[in-house]
Amino acid sequence: MWSGAAVGCAGGEEEEDLSRELYDLSIAGDAYKSWQMFPGAATELYASGQHNGDFVRSYMNDVAFAALSGFSGEFPDGSILVKEQYADAAGETLNGHTVMWKRAGYDPEHGDWYWVAYTGAGATTKHNGQAPYCYDCHAAVKATDWVYTSFQ
Ligand code: HEC
Repeated sequence: MWSGAAVGCAGGEEEEDLSRELYDLSIAGDAYKSWQMFPGAATELYASGQHNGDFVRSYMNDVAFAALSGFSGEFPDGSILVKEQYADAAGETLNGHTVMWKRAGYDPEHGDWYWVAYTGAGATTKHNGQAPYCYDCHAAVKATDWVYTSFQ
């Protein structure tokens, strides 16, 4: 009798790819464009400090936005933050989107954020899930739950 049902999980290190699910929740159909913008940031595209020198603007879903007043120090499970990135200040050439998705218990060492960078065409890049490239830089702002853009 086959008794190896648990073997598939034994490695434990293989990450589930949630990038398409996240894409559907946030980017598909420009969903994020009806979300809230960061209250502390410019509403126009502005030159990013560090994301490739792109022109950027960030949005958050309702779950995140609802947590802003009396902010507890952490965004709640299900929060999604989207940054759109353009090559030009007029927003004509989309370079892609970077997204952070809060998933309770997912990766406590890095704020429980699931990170993805998408191309302008919507493809998932190698920065997907527990992405050191992303969280190593965002670690500088752990005090605001790994979030750079001002939201208060
Ligand atoms: C070298 C530093 C650096 C790296 C690497 C980086 N970020 Fe950021 N990120 C920033 C800064 C700075 C901001 C604030 C807005 C700006 O200036 O672009 C930001 C903003 C964001 C935002 C809007 C919310 C917030 O925290 O302000 C998201 C979402 C985001 N980054 C996701 C990612 C993802 C996903 C990756 C990996 C693919 C990544 N970032 C890699 C520095 C970085």
